[in-house]
Amino acid sequence: MTTLTIRKPDDWHLHLRDGAVLQAVLPHTAAHFARAIVMPNLVPPVVTVADALAYRGRIAAALPAGSGFTPLMTLYLTEATDPADVAAGFADGTVTAVKLYPAGATTNSDSGVRDIDRAMPVLERMAQIGMPLLVHGEVVDPAVDIFDREAVFIERVLAPLRDRLPELRIVMEHVTTADGVAYVRSQETGLAATLTPHHLMINRNAILAGGIRPHYYCLPVAKRETHRLALRDAATSGDRRFFLGTDSAPHLDRLKETACGCAGIFNAPNTLACLAQVFEDDGALDRLEAFVAENGPAFYRLPRNEGHVRLQRSEAPVDFPVAVDTADGPVTVFQPPAPVHWRVVAASA
Ligand code: DOR
Ligand code: ZN
Repeated sequence: MTTLTIRKPDDWHLHLRDGAVLQAVLPHTAAHFARAIVMPNLVPPVVTVADALAYRGRIAAALPAGSGFTPLMTLYLTEATDPADVAAGFADGTVTAVKLYPAGATTNSDSGVRDIDRAMPVLERMAQIGMPLLVHGEVVDPAVDIFDREAVFIERVLAPLRDRLPELRIVMEHVTTADGVAYVRSQETGLAATLTPHHLMINRNAILAGGIRPHYYCLPVAKRETHRLALRDAATSGDRRFFLGTDSAPHLDRLKETACGCAGIFNAPNTLACLAQVFEDDGALDRLEAFVAENGPAFYRLPRNEGHVRLQRSEAPVDFPVAVDTADGPVTVFQPPAPVHWRVVAASA
């Protein structure tokens, strides 16, 4: 097969940032995706519906002229979040979901949740109205090894929360382990997971073997090969509980290439090309559309997109841009560890 036309995809987990970086990265997502769930971990975070409205305005102002892209806004859950504000924002369509960051788990998560009991009134209201909770599923207990944080989160936080509030609809964001995949598969309803392109393509050796590679460092950190294979299986299986969330997370190169570098991989420009290669390699090109354009809307109870994108395969591997320039400096683009032969050649509104 040399060309592939699929329904226009959505990105169910995206960091767009603000200011110069927003301006530079947004066109890359808007070129290939119809909608994206926009993460709220700005400084300061997007905590109220008023914050989300203001941020949505800044995103709209940064969109290329004529773009049909729709940002789906999220709120950053704190222990002081007002259930009435969240419910009002969901009812009028301003916000689509709420994001739970365990405090200290990742970039700009300091205002996140320390004691989930204190967030229960908000979570109960969300369960009543059918509003999804998106979780960064890692514990921050310093006694837990960084490679075990996801599995321990399931055991200590997620499974108890599911028992306590089974009607709450939850997305485990950027699942990175076989444990995460197995847990999602064990739940019949109300739980889904996003998968990133990079976790489907790299394991922890890519970060650490033969030199330290900051542009492969993100959180949750990539795990050993057995986990990567479990993620590939989940993505390419067609199972409706798994869908694309790129976790495209741009940081200026100078903030990554330093003694204490930021977590995050910027993959918006080549996500679809990389995924076409992954699905082709696994003999599952016929399931790519479900993963990028059908399973997500089904979980979010939103219509599928009407537009399409066309991908083309070339014999020669594709060279992706090394970096995207912003007014504050370059942001390196994810370089897949093996050749990719696909590129997006057309996209309709
Ligand atoms: O690698 C990551 N980068 N993981 C996250 O959870 C946050 C993100 C960011 O905002 O940079
Ligand atoms: Zn993220």
